[in-house]
Amino acid sequence: MKYKELIQKMTLEEKASLMSGKDFWQSENIDRLGIPSMFLADGPHGIRKQAAAADHLGLNESIPATCYPTAATVANSWNEELVEKMGQYLGKEAVAQKVNVLLGPGINMKRNPLCGRNFEYYSEDPYLAGKMAAGLIRGIQSNGVSACVKHFAVNNQEERRMVIDTIVDERTLREIYLTAFEIAIKEGKTKTVMSSYNMLNGTHTNENMHLMREILRDEWGFDGVVVTDWGGNNDRVQGLLAGNELEMPTTNGETDREIIEAIKNGEIAEEVLDECVDRLLELIFTTEEVFGKPHHDFDETDHHQMAQNVAEESIVLLKNEENVLPLKKDKKVAVIGDFAEEARYQGAGSSIVNPTKLSHTVDCLDDSGIKIIGYEPGFERYGKKNKKKIEKACELARQADVVLLYIGLDEVTEAEGLDRQNMQIPANQVDLLNELYEVNPNIVAVLSCGSAVEMPWIDKVKGLVHGYLSGQAGAKAILNVITGKVNPSGKLAETYPLHYEDTPSYHYFPGKEVSVEYREGPYIGYRYYDTADVPVLFPFGYGLSYTTFSYSNLCVNQDGVTFNITNTGKLAGMEVAQLYVRCTSKSIFRPNKELKGFKKVFLNPGETKTVTISFDDKTFRYFNIKTNQWEIEMGQYEMLIGASSSDIRLKDTINIQGTEAPLPYSNEQLPSYYSGKVNSVSKKEFEQLLGRKVPESKWDRSKPLGYNDTIAQCQYAKGGFARFAYHLINFTYWFLRKIGKRSTANLIMMSVYHMPFRGVARMTGGIINMPMLDGILMIVNGHFFKGVNHFLKERKKMIKQSKIEIGQSEVIKEM
Ligand code: BGC
Repeated sequence: MKYKELIQKMTLEEKASLMSGKDFWQSENIDRLGIPSMFLADGPHGIRKQAAAADHLGLNESIPATCYPTAATVANSWNEELVEKMGQYLGKEAVAQKVNVLLGPGINMKRNPLCGRNFEYYSEDPYLAGKMAAGLIRGIQSNGVSACVKHFAVNNQEERRMVIDTIVDERTLREIYLTAFEIAIKEGKTKTVMSSYNMLNGTHTNENMHLMREILRDEWGFDGVVVTDWGGNNDRVQGLLAGNELEMPTTNGETDREIIEAIKNGEIAEEVLDECVDRLLELIFTTEEVFGKPHHDFDETDHHQMAQNVAEESIVLLKNEENVLPLKKDKKVAVIGDFAEEARYQGAGSSIVNPTKLSHTVDCLDDSGIKIIGYEPGFERYGKKNKKKIEKACELARQADVVLLYIGLDEVTEAEGLDRQNMQIPANQVDLLNELYEVNPNIVAVLSCGSAVEMPWIDKVKGLVHGYLSGQAGAKAILNVITGKVNPSGKLAETYPLHYEDTPSYHYFPGKEVSVEYREGPYIGYRYYDTADVPVLFPFGYGLSYTTFSYSNLCVNQDGVTFNITNTGKLAGMEVAQLYVRCTSKSIFRPNKELKGFKKVFLNPGETKTVTISFDDKTFRYFNIKTNQWEIEMGQYEMLIGASSSDIRLKDTINIQGTEAPLPYSNEQLPSYYSGKVNSVSKKEFEQLLGRKVPESKWDRSKPLGYNDTIAQCQYAKGGFARFAYHLINFTYWFLRKIGKRSTANLIMMSVYHMPFRGVARMTGGIINMPMLDGILMIVNGHFFKGVNHFLKERKKMIKQSKIEIGQSEVIKEM
């Protein structure tokens, strides 16, 4: 232990006190030993340091910081160096704001397009997500502060996010849901990991020995700190045993006392606590060091420009019929759509950044060089169809050569804590598009949203520029693509299915009661569409350019692949070449092809460059559940070089020596997995894959409600008061939506409806402790008077206890 001497000087109480926050954002300090507190702040695409009122929902304002494009956007750049540079900029701002730990990147897999936080995550592919995350982490940490990769792990739905039990088989867990974390930890060398709210195969992630000890620490060698997601702690003693150092936010010492108690009664060896303290001290001292050096404020203009650069490389051109783009200088252009006036540039929830400045399209038009004839909103962001607005927009469109139509999802639809209800953009926007099409079919749509949407209207637009959520400088970046100042080079980091019903987890998402079963196994995103031969709207890895590229001369050897790319068009541009690997053997089921490498190259017109993509430890591996380790199957592998997952330009094969492990599966028992047609896997077959029975996924309504049941479950509580509260919450939600207060309504769902009872204690900073919560639960379970009595008694005890503690801490301070 590096800090053995210092730890020896600490009392048990002091050591335990470091294991939880001192308030909402800071860790505890011990002044007499020179241990400062750390500041942890969101994350991930800008700093959200709250100076005054604190919350984890993005409600109260934070100190202004640059709002970079969100992860879903940045992933489209497929540019690790660019992301690393963005990380450097983020880290610099963290230093300027004295933030020790920046709570990002978020790298959960996009298992389903409706997950409410997809805008904050990189991709449906673990390799791409891992590489992006590693780049960002390296950049952030190059400043001396810490990144915090989150949410570890399999946190792929927002519904009941704090209690849902994810049931997933070991191979899928390793290959799909953990690989990005593995890359972020081994290659990015993140100093901090945030455990997720959910449970994994029956255990809370921060208490899960397999995840936290066997995989994270023992296999991957992670020696940093694990922090809980805010309010995510369930059983503090189990968490500590699994190596979870820091619980956030404060519980006013309640869980520290649980640790002390567990050490005194021998449940935890003091060495376990000492090791946790040691790792935490390392994080505190190494990140604090940088604040001691003379530090410079960041240059807001330079950082705004960086946000623009990242956006420019991340915008995806999805359609360009008749080369409608880039816009010709002489064309008369009508700008239509509310999003042009009020940019949609980030998502809602804990990642909300208070931008240093914000560009809106209508304010950037004068400098764009476009011949603008006017602007009309055309629709109300949160309203119903507005005939007057449509008429005015059509009037303007009639006089134009081209209509630039700004549409997308609103801020309330893509939010932390809530999954989307469908994959559509609002009907009033589609109504507008339909009517505009009747008067002027030269429509270029500019889409702003952070997740995949259905596009039944796609035939009505000639051009489609997808800006995703492009940050505070996004509007300018998009205009630069539209005018051709920037040649688009983004490619989709997720598949766009034709219909939501086509998605592999359609029948298994979200888990609504106890658990969510990942019956589709490893077939998420393109791994499914490609293997099961399901047509899609836009494939993974797809994106157009204003120039064209040709691929040639593929050479494959034991170390990797080499090939040439030539820019065959008239403009300079960048191409993202993708390496997919396909195993020709059918002995072990696998996706038809998997991404194993990529390179982004810049080419002048006519220029050819040789591209090399090296193999790594992930190129041929699969996780064998019989040997419980990574293995390589001996056989022939196809090396596919593509401009997207479905546009394979070059192909060759290579024979690989395997590790000769026993075959893990039998073909007859897993027909859906062998065919890849996994959208309706039977329970029996899923159990075959899992190797055990699936737990009951429905609530047991006969049982009294406990710590891990949610407020929503009050619907069947024994206590009439609880049932009344449930109906009241539902009514309030409905009413708020009715009067147009959708974001407040969302808040109720997120912070009340889906909150487990234990959250009442974990998130109130010690105002309500667990024994008081027992009183509340008695009321909920039908023992009203007993419960009230218990609650009041425990409250009295708590007040008395905190007076004693204040006295004690004063004595320690004087020591
Ligand atoms: C989110 C985390 C975030 C934390 C602190 C939680 O609700 O899940 O991503 O870092 O709050 O704001």
